Amino acid sequence: MLQVSELRSGYGGIEALKGVSLEVRSGEIVALIGANGAGKTTLLKTLAGVLPAWGGAIAYEGERIERLPPPQRVRRGLTLVPEGRGILHRMTVRENLLMGAYARPAGGSLEREMEEVLRRFPALSPRRNQLAGTLSGGEQQMLAIGRALMARPRLLMLDEPSLGLAPMLVREIMRILSDLRTQGITILLVEQNARQALQLADRCSILASGQVVASGNARALLESPEVQAAYLRGAGGQGPGTGVAGPTPDPQPPTPARREERDGVA
Ligand SMILES: Nc1ncnc2c1ncn2[C@@H]1O[C@H](COP(=O)(O)OP(=O)(O)O)[C@@H](O)[C@H]1O
Ligand SMILES: [Mg+2]
Repeated sequence: MLQVSELRSGYGGIEALKGVSLEVRSGEIVALIGANGAGKTTLLKTLAGVLPAWGGAIAYEGERIERLPPPQRVRRGLTLVPEGRGILHRMTVRENLLMGAYARPAGGSLEREMEEVLRRFPALSPRRNQLAGTLSGGEQQMLAIGRALMARPRLLMLDEPSLGLAPMLVREIMRILSDLRTQGITILLVEQNARQALQLADRCSILASGQVVASGNARALLESPEVQAAYLRGAGGQGPGTGVAGPTPDPQPPTPARREERDGVA
């Protein structure tokens, strides 16, 4: 479905992706893990077209797309749930969902599909006319996924959807992703919760310093002593913010909402 070869990209003069190759097959969940600064977000942004490719190729359903602008990629079914969610706080839940539909394939009833999306996230449904900024961190993440679903994605890319969420909400996100796969959506998942991502995924690629350093069957990587030592140390399968090699600083300090959820208050 997606074939990435020797993809390069970066910022100014700094090359953050140094020739990344990976494949996502139709119907599977592929996890992308790696320490902070490895290039995971840069890769997803380049796939979505938010950052230009400096070199290499992105083939999606047999067509080269690396020069297409982002809305054209969305229209073909390639949708990104960005890092930090990108929710518009001063707009309502409904308005945020509608934003997700602006570049989707033509046809179908918007209202009916919005109802379907709201049914998938029971916490959002009664809050549909509420400002998105009043939602908890977990609800905002659900809204970000819901907004992406309004674009009718065939390949859904998510950038750290569980960041800052309490373990129960992390499991809820993983369950939703598993349901989406059952319904035929292919998923490329970037996660710091490496253990949970590997438990969910079919295959996994590990990124370090802008390069893929390992890739393969997710189960096999989960059981590999090297992977455990570097990415799963102390994760215990639960805690947020784990699965990072070395004492890397968290670039986004928790907001009050996130802190509440970490403490299990929200
Ligand atoms: N806006 C930016 N300007 C300059 N450098 C950036 C920017 N965003 C990320 N980088 C750098 O690119 C590299 C990869 O970052 P990123 O893709 O965000 O990593 P990850 O998502 O794996 O934590 C890092 O060295 C980071 O410092
Ligand atoms: Mg990132």
